[in-house]
Amino acid sequence: MSIEVSMTVNGRAVTREVDDHTLLVHYIREHLGLTGTHVGCDTAQCGACTVLRDGRAVKSCNQLAAMAVGCRITTIEGVASPDGTLHPLQDAFRRKHGLQCGYCTPGMVMSALDLLRRNPHPTEQEIAEQLDGNLCRCTGYYNIVKAIHAASRAMSA
Ligand code: FES
Ligand code: FES
Repeated sequence: MSIEVSMTVNGRAVTREVDDHTLLVHYIREHLGLTGTHVGCDTAQCGACTVLRDGRAVKSCNQLAAMAVGCRITTIEGVASPDGTLHPLQDAFRRKHGLQCGYCTPGMVMSALDLLRRNPHPTEQEIAEQLDGNLCRCTGYYNIVKAIHAASRAMSA
């Protein structure tokens, strides 16, 4: 059955007619063309599909688009400034080599944004706990933690 699904994505009101079983990640990627949100597992384990839903990090592969009707969704495409200036968190990932292949990076950034909003000065332990649901095959996580620390300093400066 087709249903009309409306939400706000990166500050823009959107409406699409989709199958009622459409996952939020497929709504974002296939119906809105925002392919920065990745699919790594489709089973809610890797975190590559993480987006912000009303400010909280959620895995968009384990919920229906219909569950986000009326919500405010932020994807990685909505993180930098409109003029292309990187968010301090994105800049810190770049400067601290917090990525290699980059596949996990959008999910890492969205998850870290949620953490820094709730806890502007997280400890390494708190960062590690937040990233528990985000897998990276390349970096060994060390530089990701360093990047999030650096961003927390930059954002509070
Ligand atoms: Fe959603 Fe892996 S694709 S957690
Ligand atoms: Fe390759 Fe994380 S940078 S999976």
